[in-house]
Amino acid sequence: MQILQCENLNKTYASGESAVHALNNVTFALEQGAFCAVTGPSGSGKSTLLHILGGLEYPTSGKVFYQGEELFKYNDNQLSILRRRRFGFVFQAYNLVEELTGYENILLPVLLDKKKPDEKHISMLTKLLGIDDRLSHLPSALSGGQQQRVAIARALANKPAVLFADEPTGNLDGKAGREVLSLLKYAGKELGVTLVLVSHDLSVAEQAERIIALEDGSIERDTTAAR
Ligand SMILES: Nc1ncnc2c1ncn2[C@@H]1O[C@H](COP(=O)(O)OP(=O)(O)OP(=O)(O)O)[C@@H](O)[C@H]1O
Ligand SMILES: [Mg+2]
Repeated sequence: MQILQCENLNKTYASGESAVHALNNVTFALEQGAFCAVTGPSGSGKSTLLHILGGLEYPTSGKVFYQGEELFKYNDNQLSILRRRRFGFVFQAYNLVEELTGYENILLPVLLDKKKPDEKHISMLTKLLGIDDRLSHLPSALSGGQQQRVAIARALANKPAVLFADEPTGNLDGKAGREVLSLLKYAGKELGVTLVLVSHDLSVAEQAERIIALEDGSIERDTTAAR
């Protein structure tokens, strides 16, 4: 089943006198539970595409469908509820709240949604991500890799259908980056979460089942690995 589709996405940013065409007629569909990487050089439109697919930014034209429903027909409030409940986001910067412990950071989106935390689910996540013994610490007492794993647990706490990750290993060294990447991949499969990973690094993108390569805002290649 297809969970996310985009049709003829265009995004133009006004930039002084000129305009930047960040996306040009981008069309594709993602299968539920798939792991897809978006790659391409700096400025090719990767983050713009991720933001639009995740409902964080509006396209200039074109459509996005989540489970067959057009995303940008929702009003701002409906869209933010959908994002909060069905999507998870992980960015290069971990964006943890410095005054809260690891555990409190993970719980935050659930509490903001006025939901009762599913302690069993969160405990499963923190074990799976190998951070269950670090949860009482503030982010300042955690390594970069541990902070990113807390951020991944936070993004998965609400049991999203789609996890969007933009250069999640960009601030980590090789080993910590590989660990975070393999945990993302493992968590995605274990939980049946559709994973959209943006990375300019081909060795990272190659971990995915499918690679969409952007060049100047257009899909240059769309390959599904034979494995
Ligand atoms: N808010 C904005 N205003 C104006 N131009 C923007 C804005 N956001 C992105 N752009 C431009 O759109 C193009 C695509 O940017 P985008 O951030 O999507 O690239 P990217 O592939 O994620 O690059 P990187 O690998 O450096 O993160 C670039 O030319 C960028 O300068
Ligand atoms: Mg980017």
